[in-house]
Amino acid sequence: MAEQTARTIGPVILLGPPGSGKGTQAKRIAAHYSIPQISTGDLLREHVSRGTALGREAQAVMARGELVPDELMYGIVADRLDQPDYACGYVLDGFPRTAGQAGWLDAFLERQFFEKSEKWTPVVIRLDVDYTQLLLRLTGRRSCPTCGRIYNVHFQPPRVNELCDLDDSKLIQREDDREEVIRPRLDAYEVQTKPVAEYYRARGRLVAVNADQAVDELAAQIFGIIDSHVAERAGRGMTKS
Ligand code: AP5
Repeated sequence: MAEQTARTIGPVILLGPPGSGKGTQAKRIAAHYSIPQISTGDLLREHVSRGTALGREAQAVMARGELVPDELMYGIVADRLDQPDYACGYVLDGFPRTAGQAGWLDAFLERQFFEKSEKWTPVVIRLDVDYTQLLLRLTGRRSCPTCGRIYNVHFQPPRVNELCDLDDSKLIQREDDREEVIRPRLDAYEVQTKPVAEYYRARGRLVAVNADQAVDELAAQIFGIIDSHVAERAGRGMTKS
């Protein structure tokens, strides 16, 4: 599918349980629309590997499969959203993850609205996948420590066993993809993140998709949802003027 030149997309939010494909699809969206991907999981793992104070605090929480406290998340997300290369939009993968974070993001976007000419209503897409498939995806996931490309030993294996197709790095398994951590992560999703979908559904912004389909087909469906959202917003702008 051809990549597009930069146009205003606004915020795209991907919701879904661990292993539903948020990271995989966020990378596709970022490449297709030339917008940055913000993965709060990746940002936290970066802090952990750099040994920052935040990283040290987050590490134990992540190892237990729990969510990092909201107050710690707001600083790192606000820093990112204020970057100039986010002027055309961005795709959020892993944020918001609690109803509190969703309210915080709305207030943040509202504040930005006063500094920009147009209001950005996020398009919120939830990836639905059943439990058995999630377990296979999480236990089979491997990623490249150099370029970040995501593989799966069952569904998207590398061409050469355990090596990245792009740069030959040895693939790694995430610490929290161990079976004993997967369960608490899925529990945290049920209890703390499912209400986020309700938050957006109540505001008429939620689109749920069946994410148990091939990566390219799902990406095409998601691009269609984003394109409709952008066209609708442009239409509303024309009506107003
Ligand atoms: P995070 O890194 O966000 O992990 P997650 O939400 O648990 O999601 P995953 O990265 O596990 O899965 P994914 O949906 O991105 O799937 P992927 O594309 O990789 O968070 C980690 C931790 O950080 C949290 O537990 C928490 O502690 C903390 N954290 C992060 N954000 C936070 C926040 N906002 N607040 C508080 N704490 C926060 O795909 C999975 C596998 O499936 C891959 O192997 C892939 O190849 C395969 N796959 C993908 N799509 C398909 C497909 N269509 N068909 C077959 N296989 C597929």
